[in-house]
Amino acid sequence: MPAVPAAGSIRILFVCLGNICRSPAAEEVMRSLAEAAGQKHIVTDSAGLIDFHEGELPDVRMRRAADRRGYRLTHRSRPVGPADFKHFDIIAAMDERNRTELLRIAENEQQRAKVVRTADFLTTHTEHSFIPDPYYGREDDFDLVITLLEDACATLLEQLKR
Ligand code: 4NP
Repeated sequence: MPAVPAAGSIRILFVCLGNICRSPAAEEVMRSLAEAAGQKHIVTDSAGLIDFHEGELPDVRMRRAADRRGYRLTHRSRPVGPADFKHFDIIAAMDERNRTELLRIAENEQQRAKVVRTADFLTTHTEHSFIPDPYYGREDDFDLVITLLEDACATLLEQLKR
């Protein structure tokens, strides 16, 4: 399990490729779990590695899957940038390609140490080593994203609870 900061307000940035499917869902799942647990020190956001969808709401299929599980996605897609590596404490990549790219953008060892694999926090669905990209998939691939994110975010929340 990756090390997480022990004190202060904790800012988590979830990152995927387009910032219209997995990471905006992760941002809202984590925010919602933290709120329900009264963990006000946890702040979440999300960003993408490409700016192709900048300004867009999450993909309608992702919003529908989130709705089915009680989450409302209102984030607008934005690209990740150097300032994010200063502002956030944890930068959670959805898959290995995202992680490699984030490590490339990070400017020093301290920033690289913030980059974690979201799937490393899975405790129930441990057969998954990354959060699969649902963009070219079917409706149930979007449901799987929510299932995996609920699992990983619950574990992360337990680690950050005070
Ligand atoms: P995401 O999914 O990385 O989970 O937001 C994708 C969104 C858009 C594209 C690929 C993946 N795209 O190629 O535009």
